[in-house]
Amino acid sequence: MKNILLFTDPGIDDSIAIMYALLHPEINIVGIVSGYGNIDKEQATNNVAYLLDLANQTSIPLIGGATRSCTGKYPIYYPEIHGKDGLGPLQPPDTIKGKLLNFSEIFKIIENHPDTIVVDVGRNTSLATALILDENFEKKIKEFYIMGGAYFVPGNVTKLAEANFHGDPVASNFVLGYLENVTTIPLNVTNNAVITTEHIQMIKKQSNNPLISILDDVFDFYFKAYQELVPGINGAPLHDVVTLSILMNPDFGNFIKRKVKVQTCGEEKGQSLADFRVGSEQKEKNQQTKIYLTLDYQAFVNDFIKIMTNEG
Ligand code: RIB
Ligand code: CA
Repeated sequence: MKNILLFTDPGIDDSIAIMYALLHPEINIVGIVSGYGNIDKEQATNNVAYLLDLANQTSIPLIGGATRSCTGKYPIYYPEIHGKDGLGPLQPPDTIKGKLLNFSEIFKIIENHPDTIVVDVGRNTSLATALILDENFEKKIKEFYIMGGAYFVPGNVTKLAEANFHGDPVASNFVLGYLENVTTIPLNVTNNAVITTEHIQMIKKQSNNPLISILDDVFDFYFKAYQELVPGINGAPLHDVVTLSILMNPDFGNFIKRKVKVQTCGEEKGQSLADFRVGSEQKEKNQQTKIYLTLDYQAFVNDFIKIMTNEG
């Protein structure tokens, strides 16, 4: 069983990642930090609360994360991809309002769960804040997994930058420059984690879980958005889900270790940089990040369907 503290900004692929984590028999979610990113923090929080309610798991601590980035710029949200309220056409019922625990709760949680793995699938602001508030934070965490970056492939929010690193490049650069034991899952991998309507229908047919009852509506919205972005695409990439899937199945892809820098301003803002020349690994031994570059697509799809149809 893996104890996971999840930093998230749901958002459709975040929401499906939360479903995946809730349904995974080998994942124990020790807390969810909801912050701004795809949508604002308040709506992100209500969306997490809705998913926890559907899953009948409201005892999972819901912790308030960041409202904006370290750059001082106001966040840009993405309703065209994630829907006005972050769940495509859906809105959490009015009766559901996420009740947030104070950010400091995460320090108590990790004291109580010494082998916690941190997974950040949103902007890295809240994670950077945890590192700033507690100078020993990283020593108490077993591993860090981050969805972010793009190497030798175009960005998804600018020609160079992936959305999470672009949303708060100062935080991402700080986190990656600082942490020793961090694994990143960039667009090189996540763009290939394409789930189709057929996969979703297959899952719907096999599951009576209330969480899965909303899966097709949220996925359809996201798929339509991706059809606009990438004409001819036959599904939509679940960036945040594949991050968890690789954490649970590290052999689903190959990684290399390099020191990563994130550009913090200008036209390159949010661009992830690493020296991939032969021998550079030897020269830069400290703060090396594991960067996944490949994905066993069929293994991912099989894992996704298996977990999403798990009835416990
Ligand atoms: O670039 C993909 C990331 O940006 C995902 O975390 C997705 O939720 C979006 O915010
Ligand atoms: Ca996300």
